[in-house]
Amino acid sequence: MQIYHTISSIEHYLHLCRATGGTVGFVPTMGALHEGHISLITESKKENHFTISSIFVNPTQFNNKEDLAKYPRTEVEDIDMLRKAGCDAVFIPYTTEIYPEKSYLIPDIDLHGMDEVMEGAFRPGHFKGVLQVVYILLKIVEPDVLYLGQKDFQQQAILRLLLDQQFPQIRMNTVATYRSESGLALSSRNRRLTVEQKEQALAIYRTLSEIKSKLLLIMFLKY
Ligand code: PAF
Repeated sequence: MQIYHTISSIEHYLHLCRATGGTVGFVPTMGALHEGHISLITESKKENHFTISSIFVNPTQFNNKEDLAKYPRTEVEDIDMLRKAGCDAVFIPYTTEIYPEKSYLIPDIDLHGMDEVMEGAFRPGHFKGVLQVVYILLKIVEPDVLYLGQKDFQQQAILRLLLDQQFPQIRMNTVATYRSESGLALSSRNRRLTVEQKEQALAIYRTLSEIKSKLLLIMFLKY
């Protein structure tokens, strides 16, 4: 697996990939990888000739500095996991590569207020930061397909608007949420939860699953 830290080096590699006529699948991440990320790599490998991932803990999507400082960073293990999964190249840019100037570029996308509700209401500016970094990464990688986890539902909906309005040539493939045996969705942030907190987090999944099975039963009895 190739490892690149600069835009010019990854662009050179991608140029060679495209010259073969092959397609490129892209899996952007913030590292602290788990099986959920690897399932995106696997899906991309099934559908494309080349699979590229990125590891970049994007400062502009953290509205809280402490949260950014505490975000898990496991680069050596991440590289090992990507290599074992058969990823072709990983882009691990320096922050100055992505944000060379103080005035950061923000794409002009109409989000219809989607970034201000649900999670966005608790994390002001978060989705604008996600939009910004994914916009920059897509401009660099220019993939055929972008792979995202279904777990981040609101992020996915917002990035769909980005693709529709700025990159209509890129297809989005959303991959099913990867869960541990207990049912808890794998998430980089869950590394910071205690056993007790993980048990509490499971209440959401269990409740939603119960509602779903009850609704299915009602529908079955009705028809
Ligand atoms: O979902 C994530 O890990 C991040 O929000 C993303 C899409 C890599 C952008 O930093």
